[in-house]
Amino acid sequence: MLLTALPSDVLILVLQRLSVGELVALSETCRLLNSLVTEFGWAAYLRINPRHSFSLSQTRKKWPTKMQVRYDFQADRSWARSEFVARPLSRPWSGKMQPILAISPSRLIVAAGSGISSYKFGVARDSESPPIHLEGTFSFAPPNGRVSDITGITFVDDGGLDQTLCIAFQNGTLQRVSLQPPPQDDPTASLGATYSVSSRLHDGDFIESLSSARSMLLSLSSSGAATLTNLQFPSLPEAVALNARSWVSHLCLDSSGPYAAFGTSSTNPLRVHSITNDEISKVPSAILHTNLHSDLPAPKPVTSAVYGISRAPPASSWGASPQILVSGWFDGYVRCYDLRSSARAVEGAGSLDGPAPLRPVLTMKDPLQLETIYSVSCGGGSSSHVAAGSARHSVVSFWDIRSTRTGWGVHAPGNDRSPVYSVILESSRLYGATQSRPFVYDFGPGVDLETYPALPEGRGIDGLKRKKGSSGIGYYVTKYPHSTRGLPANEP
Ligand SMILES: *[C@@H]1O[C@H](CO)[C@@H](O)[C@H](O)[C@H]1NC(C)=O
Repeated sequence: MLLTALPSDVLILVLQRLSVGELVALSETCRLLNSLVTEFGWAAYLRINPRHSFSLSQTRKKWPTKMQVRYDFQADRSWARSEFVARPLSRPWSGKMQPILAISPSRLIVAAGSGISSYKFGVARDSESPPIHLEGTFSFAPPNGRVSDITGITFVDDGGLDQTLCIAFQNGTLQRVSLQPPPQDDPTASLGATYSVSSRLHDGDFIESLSSARSMLLSLSSSGAATLTNLQFPSLPEAVALNARSWVSHLCLDSSGPYAAFGTSSTNPLRVHSITNDEISKVPSAILHTNLHSDLPAPKPVTSAVYGISRAPPASSWGASPQILVSGWFDGYVRCYDLRSSARAVEGAGSLDGPAPLRPVLTMKDPLQLETIYSVSCGGGSSSHVAAGSARHSVVSFWDIRSTRTGWGVHAPGNDRSPVYSVILESSRLYGATQSRPFVYDFGPGVDLETYPALPEGRGIDGLKRKKGSSGIGYYVTKYPHSTRGLPANEP
């Protein structure tokens, strides 16, 4: 019997399991199969192989399915070869900053000092890489009075406008900010913003981390006061006290088990509190331990710190569950935890003082430069990468979660000695920020001189070196394999 004699719905089912190469081959065999692949094959492939990206989202809606698959295929291939275009997004700042990044489907915000820069995501006209341009900058420095740096920033839900942010300042205020983008036909207009104070912390405390999902805002103060607010029905919720110097929060409102995760400097550096009826529970539902193996009779307490938390990459071997966390630690390790797992750090425990510590399901590190991890984000090629910004030499490390022994690192343009304070990983782009500047690594095809904001031409400007050839789009960066030959990647 001929394959094409099968009913179309059976053929469509077969298509769903095919790779890009197989779909291409099949579409070249005959008219019937070609039209089935065109109509169903590419769409099925995209469904089974999602590639999450904010900056591409508007362009992807316009691209035919085959074009999207081609883009993803080429980006995945560049990831496998560690090939990308490196670009600073701006000239360096004049002083040393501790920048923070925030992203939405419309724009990337870089907060540095008391100001923000907004980079707007454009729509690609054809198959070129979707462009990003500087929409404007805005300073929150008061005309007279003390300038206060931004310590936390997040987009909050405003019905898809992507113009509303919550921004926390060193002086303890939390402000709700509404951006006023300049009209596109007026090149002289600048970015505006209206803002109002929504709360204020006292006694020198300030918000260190902000995260948001749906209409909920999670804030974590430097002294460990965690507050969950429903922005639609603002009230003054009671704070949960973590009683530790706190660094980072992560909010997950997924129906399978909403929770908030907190990174602190303490003997419980990473803990998870469940959320019920929009309230954070006072006691942790999970304590995440560093032990890979269980200790008897009791696990040694860990005194450490966690600075970065992210949801695991969608294509991780444990599935795409939001119950899997990736965390960046003081000791230079990136640790993954499956909150559904029963791998406790002590067998049979679960004491009166709370839940038994949970062991990581996977750990990763750069064996050559075991530096503290400041930031983590997941996604990338094949939806299976973890990116970690380290505390020194502007290094970002990448691991493919399917083979963590083949990790690699790269120094940001300019080779600063700085930490990488913030990273955001999309399917084909990594945004990062050092004390000197924001930058992007673009693994996708079609990057040209129009894709990113223009930078001054010429040799050695801002201490950077443009790459020869490829029409000077990319900049030189130093890459190195973690080169784990003979080195166990998974010791505790
Ligand atoms: C806190 O700092 C911000 C940014 O500099 C400023 O806009 C705000 O007015 C300050 N608030 C107070 C109460 O000082």
